[in-house]
Amino acid sequence: MATYVHPSSSPLLTSEGDEKYANVKWEELGFALTPTDYMYVAKCKQGESFSEGNIAPYGDISISPCSAIFNYGQGLFEGLKAYRAEDDRIRLFRPDQNALRMQTGAERLCMTSPSVEQFVEAVKLTVLANKKWVPPPGKGTLYVRPLLIGSGAILGLASAPEYTFLVYASPVGEYHKVSSGLLNLEVNHKYRRSHSGGTGGVKSCTNYCPVVKPFLEAKSSGFSDVLFLDAATGRNIEEISTCNIFIVKGNIVSTPPTSGTILPGITRKSIIELARDTGYQVQERDVSVDELLEAEEVFCTGTATVVKAVETVTFHDKKVKYKTGEETLSTKLYTVLTNIQMGVVEDKKGWMVEI
Ligand code: COI
Repeated sequence: MATYVHPSSSPLLTSEGDEKYANVKWEELGFALTPTDYMYVAKCKQGESFSEGNIAPYGDISISPCSAIFNYGQGLFEGLKAYRAEDDRIRLFRPDQNALRMQTGAERLCMTSPSVEQFVEAVKLTVLANKKWVPPPGKGTLYVRPLLIGSGAILGLASAPEYTFLVYASPVGEYHKVSSGLLNLEVNHKYRRSHSGGTGGVKSCTNYCPVVKPFLEAKSSGFSDVLFLDAATGRNIEEISTCNIFIVKGNIVSTPPTSGTILPGITRKSIIELARDTGYQVQERDVSVDELLEAEEVFCTGTATVVKAVETVTFHDKKVKYKTGEETLSTKLYTVLTNIQMGVVEDKKGWMVEI
């Protein structure tokens, strides 16, 4: 199947790799593809279950021009990370949650999904095969991207006759590499990301492409990202282009509910638990733009984003500045979460999975 293309053209590669590490300039990692050596591939016919997959050299795959993914966007993706601890253990963060989310998405898009066991095993195998690409502690993570696509050919609108489950990986650094380390968001009042009954609550490939235009418009106006409002009323905040949002006022942390129009983020779910452990009351409920503009602190969460503080939000001609810095809840939660992920503290939650 795949032809192996060695990523020698990546600007982040140095000439010196060794047994333990690939030849990456770890300090310079951002959130961009640095192709690794191997990927995992499994296939299944409609109505059957997935074959045992196998590890193959990373490279291009051959798919029919008439495939359901190319023509009708029948596809889901996931994102999770592998972390290297100081003692060299390599661990994954809650991979079962990604597997379950893929199953929910597959049900919505009429696809067959791998079992939770197969999903987790595939991720482990991919990380193990690319172990040299897991950055040294504190220098980044190995971002793992599982894909489930309708790879079979279909002309009339229908579910594909064949699905491909593929897992690849890339070492990454920060997603939002902004010099201040803080986000300046624009609340978009023109485009909507999702609507009730749609696919906003699953990680469908088709949710992401339409976000690029409003994102680029926000960037060209000097913002670091864009925040979407609900389609029904245009009054409530929903989601940032690639991550969830939280507001803090007093002892109350509020975040939009996962009622079908926002992605049920795994970092979101974990942060809710950690914020409650820290003594905050967390409310999953509709949050209006007015409340956002009156919040004391705002932050966003996601696998790629981790936990990121928001410095300003702009809505029409109103710009609001929030509390940031060491004393904020987002800084505390970032530290608690990343200490668990990096193996700095004991994982009392049972979230980390060793490979
Ligand atoms: C993730 O955080 O894993 C995402 O899905 C973000 C991605 C669209 C860059």
